[in-house]
Amino acid sequence: MPVQAILKAVIPVAGMGTRLLPATKSQPKEMLPVGRRPVVQYVVEEMEQAGLNQILFVTGRKKSAIEDHFDADPELVRLLSAADSYTLLEELDYTETDATFFYTRQSTPLGLADAVRHAKRFVGDEPFVVALGDSIIRNGREGSLCRSLMEAHIASGAACTVALEQVAPEDTYRYGIVAPQSGADLAGAFEIDDLVEKPAPGSAPSNLAIAARYVFGPAIFDAIDRTVPDRKGEMQLTDSIRLLKQMGEKVCGLCLSEGERRYDIGNFESYFTAFMDFALADEKYGYMVRQYLKRKAREL
Ligand code: UTP
Repeated sequence: MPVQAILKAVIPVAGMGTRLLPATKSQPKEMLPVGRRPVVQYVVEEMEQAGLNQILFVTGRKKSAIEDHFDADPELVRLLSAADSYTLLEELDYTETDATFFYTRQSTPLGLADAVRHAKRFVGDEPFVVALGDSIIRNGREGSLCRSLMEAHIASGAACTVALEQVAPEDTYRYGIVAPQSGADLAGAFEIDDLVEKPAPGSAPSNLAIAARYVFGPAIFDAIDRTVPDRKGEMQLTDSIRLLKQMGEKVCGLCLSEGERRYDIGNFESYFTAFMDFALADEKYGYMVRQYLKRKAREL
């Protein structure tokens, strides 16, 4: 199967974003800006660059700003054209895309696994990519992480292939952590023996954290159906992948390449870090931000 046999991406954006309150009280966290764009725009651009042109958003209440963001806005275009504001008009180019957007609603945010379950009809029997709407992959060549994941997925015949990043041992409790097969060569795709969601401090099987990008075959839906909700009543996707493994399916992992980094904006600490890094690297405003920061650093 060639890589471009995978054309569908699912972007879950239905979570409540409670850790970012009050910023997310009435707006989706996926629409918070990082640098000059909302987070979810980076995610969509990454999918398009990887050749994934059928994109399903799993949305929920208070998320309509996401639909509006990816829709054309003829009135705004008319206004900017009349004012000869061509530079600003260019900022809307992202809406002219070959991708087709689909939307489905997860009325109650019962966890990431439940959100992915909402994609069942959309994907049918095809393999598909899941990209978390609150996480940016930066510094990869355009769309390259997803391409590598899809290639590895197809070559290995796995039912699931996850992107992985090394995290500090003291941070493993925040993530889904995998146990690579013994002797696995982390330089390429490797098999995973087990997975655990947010392991208790000191009990993580490795420091390899699932990094917000996945490729699945349709078998994941059977595993999701068997997934038991956690103490908070949420169905964790990591638990579903664990079940997939226990059902005898192959699960693989692929580490981010050197220079690639995942930014998730789930809490204020990671959001601030993401915003600063993107602002500092901004082509147009980065220089000014760097100068300001240098001045400021002297006062700290
Ligand atoms: P998170 O678990 O980080 O998001 O999900 P959350 O539930 O919104 O966060 P808090 O704990 O309340 O602050 C990662 C991604 O999965 C989506 C979220 O929208 C986010 O983009 N998600 C999460 C869903 O679509 N549905 C869910 O039930 C949970």
